Amino acid sequence: MKVFASAAVTADGALDDSSAARLHISSPEDWAEVMRLRAEFDAILVGAGTIRRDNPRLVVADGALRAERIRRGLAPELTKVTATRSGRLDPRSEFFTAGCGRKIVFSARPLPELDGVAEVVVAEEISASSIVTELEKRGIGSLFVEGGAAMLRMFFAERIVDTLRLAVAPDLRVDDAAAPRLDIGTGYLAAPHTGRFFGSTFVTTYELRQGLTARDEEYLRQAIDESRKCVPSATSYRVGAVVVTRSGACFAGHTHETSPTHHAEQEAVKKALAAGAELRGAAMYSSMEPCSQRSSEPESCSAMMLRLGFARAVFAAYEPDCFVQCRGALDLRLGGVEVRAVPAMAGEVLRINSHLRGE
Ligand SMILES: NC(=O)c1ccc[n+]([C@@H]2O[C@H](COP(=O)([O-])OP(=O)(O)OC[C@H]3O[C@@H](n4cnc5c(N)ncnc54)[C@H](OP(=O)(O)O)[C@@H]3O)[C@@H](O)[C@H]2O)c1
Repeated sequence: MKVFASAAVTADGALDDSSAARLHISSPEDWAEVMRLRAEFDAILVGAGTIRRDNPRLVVADGALRAERIRRGLAPELTKVTATRSGRLDPRSEFFTAGCGRKIVFSARPLPELDGVAEVVVAEEISASSIVTELEKRGIGSLFVEGGAAMLRMFFAERIVDTLRLAVAPDLRVDDAAAPRLDIGTGYLAAPHTGRFFGSTFVTTYELRQGLTARDEEYLRQAIDESRKCVPSATSYRVGAVVVTRSGACFAGHTHETSPTHHAEQEAVKKALAAGAELRGAAMYSSMEPCSQRSSEPESCSAMMLRLGFARAVFAAYEPDCFVQCRGALDLRLGGVEVRAVPAMAGEVLRINSHLRGE
């Protein structure tokens, strides 16, 4: 998933002040640009604190932007996403009532008051990694993270943001110790960036992660082709994997290639280790999400990848809930691995595995 974070701050780093009224930080030109950018995304996320404080609508109000979304095959409105531990969300908030878009709430407990208003995803542990993973499983490919302070902090702490758009109002200071502040470390400052004024607001866009490349898609294609070599079995998926080391060496493997208990990732890693390859910082391309639970082997593929220091994991299809509830992508993300799902190639992988789906 593409994750884009956006924040507007005063010259002294505040996201708002602590007064009752809403503080307008962006110039009208910057605000118009934010509206245009938002409309390119599948979903928009704000924390429950922002819903309670600002009551934002988060709709695509401009008819031309809506028409452009429809032309591109998107829903007219973005899916609205939020997270709460307390469950303090008023179903009459504009987040729920404005616009016709889908609404998803990540919550630590069931919220019957939101029945019929939003889809509530209940989870004990809610993190940026789990939000991104669950949204991807629901078909969302890009997320605009709008704030507030806690949400931005969480997404940056987990290093799951691809692009940061930081708008600064150089002439505005709040001098307010109680104001919410941008607290995302300074790592982003070293990333490649460009800057320009939108009216009186200076905007810097930092490219923190490269995202999917044409090379990624080629290696993933190779992994999918590798999966066709597997003999269909009633007890396992047909999966192919390709390990690519930092120096560009490539090792492919498929399920059960040399042992009836080996997964594709293990087969590819076995070949890499036999060749003396350095796997720290390597990338794993798998036709299906690396597993998180094994009955026939002591270590799952995602645990193996974390142990060996893989930096990236790219896969086409999330593992269907056929044998176990896989959390490989989530475990990898929580372990600091950059995970990319490529849903455009998932259909082919599921067709290769139709022997397990009664087709
Ligand atoms: N200038 C800007 O670009 C911008 C943009 C957006 C917002 N803001 C400002 O930011 C301020 C709000 O920031 P904020 O930090 O108070 O609120 P926030 O980030 O919008 O939301 C924080 C809330 O999200 C929930 N939450 C956070 N982490 C969670 C987790 N791991 N699991 C489940 N729920 C989690 C909690 O909700 P519960 O309390 O319900 O448990 C928490 O109180 C406002 O003043 C707003 O105006 C500024």
